[in-house]
Amino acid sequence: MNQETPFLRVAGVSKIFEAEGHGHERIQVIDHVSMDLTAGEFAVYLGPSGCGKTTLMRIVGGLETASGGDVVLAGRKVTGPDRQKGMVFQAYTSFPWLTVLENIRFGTKYRNDIDTAQKDEIARHYLDLVGLTEFADFYVNRISGGMRQRVAIARTLAAGADILLMDEPFGALDAQTREFLQDQLLEINRVEKKAVIFVTHDVEEAVFLADRIFMFSARPATIIEVIKVADHIPGERHMDIKETEAFFHLRNHVRDVMRDQARATEEKLERALRPEDGGE
Ligand SMILES: Nc1ncnc2c1ncn2[C@@H]1O[C@H](COP(=O)(O)OP(=O)(O)OP(=O)(O)O)[C@@H](O)[C@H]1O
Ligand SMILES: [Mg+2]
Repeated sequence: MNQETPFLRVAGVSKIFEAEGHGHERIQVIDHVSMDLTAGEFAVYLGPSGCGKTTLMRIVGGLETASGGDVVLAGRKVTGPDRQKGMVFQAYTSFPWLTVLENIRFGTKYRNDIDTAQKDEIARHYLDLVGLTEFADFYVNRISGGMRQRVAIARTLAAGADILLMDEPFGALDAQTREFLQDQLLEINRVEKKAVIFVTHDVEEAVFLADRIFMFSARPATIIEVIKVADHIPGERHMDIKETEAFFHLRNHVRDVMRDQARATEEKLERALRPEDGGE
């Protein structure tokens, strides 16, 4: 094989948590998950609650070590967190005592590849990109949740991230703000050509955003289906596609797969609760 090296390679990653306390319980959370992402690709993780999505993302981000397998980003094995991997979480992680611009500028603090003037320029660039130019001097505790998420995204980009790792970043926002940010995130992905891994529970959000949707089984997470959205919904991604038949079809399919997995989770739980000799 003579294929181009992928931008991100997740190769046979497994994770077992050794629970503390009595009994030395071992919980397998991820079971040999592999995926390759190209630079600039938008990947969405979908799967039942507790299946291991956050854990996998933390492994990709270097915040958690795998029990088996490797993660290689831009040719380098991931061994810990760094500014190449930008994390955006559901909870707003900005500094309330800094202004919007200062928060974004903070992202550049530890960069030694650029000088002070360039840092200012980059902070301004990302401030504009996320549409917060007019709010530059507002303290972040005076702006809305949606704006704070934009600050977090801009700060991550200013830090020089090549990949955005986003764990339900819009989960706490109202539907309208969420749609606005989805559109804006796609624009950022197009303009900046940054790869994104995005975790969500919202099937519509997944179908709208993703180049590829990775669907996971109930715990331990394995990949049960990978959907290349462009094969189903061709053309430019725009809010209007949410009204098309192709979108409905794909959304319904994804929803069905998710329901089956949720059912599997419930059955597992039930089996665990049932006495061994009970039932038929
Ligand atoms: N540090 C840890 N020690 C032990 N178990 C853990 C640890 N972190 C996560 N787990 C367990 O691993 C499983 C997967 O958790 P994870 O947070 O990755 O799931 P998730 O798919 O992100 O769920 P959700 O959709 O609810 O956010 C859960 O059962 C969780 O309890
Ligand atoms: Mg999670």
